[in-house]
Amino acid sequence: TSGIIVAPSLLAADFARAGEETAAVEAAGGDWLHLDVMDGHFVPNLSFGTQMIKALRPRSKLPFDVHLMIEPADPFLAAFVEAGADHIHVHIEAGPHAHRSLQTIRALGAKAGIALCPATSPEAIAEVLDIADMVLVMTVNPGFGGQKFLDSQLSKVKRIRSMLTGMGRDLPILVDGGVDRNTAPRCIEAGATVMVGGTSVFGAGDYAAAIAGLRGRSGS
Ligand code: DX5
Ligand code: ZN
Repeated sequence: TSGIIVAPSLLAADFARAGEETAAVEAAGGDWLHLDVMDGHFVPNLSFGTQMIKALRPRSKLPFDVHLMIEPADPFLAAFVEAGADHIHVHIEAGPHAHRSLQTIRALGAKAGIALCPATSPEAIAEVLDIADMVLVMTVNPGFGGQKFLDSQLSKVKRIRSMLTGMGRDLPILVDGGVDRNTAPRCIEAGATVMVGGTSVFGAGDYAAAIAGLRGRSGS
């Protein structure tokens, strides 16, 4: 295997059939299920919250990778872990205390991810890398699926990979937004190891082929 992890994003699924869609991407070889939580405040859109995650939890063995696009996040961290989140990503832009948020996520027994928007410099997360378990680089502006991949974010992925290498930390780097079979190989080359795919997976007729395509293999 390539060692690349694929995390289908439920945001692009048929919400009326969320349980079946989750089972379908699990059967099709998805590694994690990415769950986008939006509050209409940190990002200009609403999605779903703990109830969706709790309802899906018994339907899947996949790690639930929860991306919080909410401000504040801290009052809800325990509820998301209780609902079934295995990983929680908080945004560095969502308040001055991302360090505390990451500490809290870890204390709750989940893996802690730090996420950053396209406008944010990679140096903004330097002081929390020592307590993060993963890094999520937004490759579109957060809030909506189906947007065009921002090439400008590839150098950020590279920079974060080199910051981590310099610290002796081999953490997963996720890329999120516009990741498809064409952009994934470039993300992998830059040092990303987890491909989040919404439209590229749920918009495809064949989920298994779409997921295999995100692993950066050619000819599949
Ligand atoms: C956007 C979300 C993404 C979204 C990606 O704010 O964080 O996870 O689902 O969707 P695609 O893959 O369609 O760009
Ligand atoms: Zn996301």
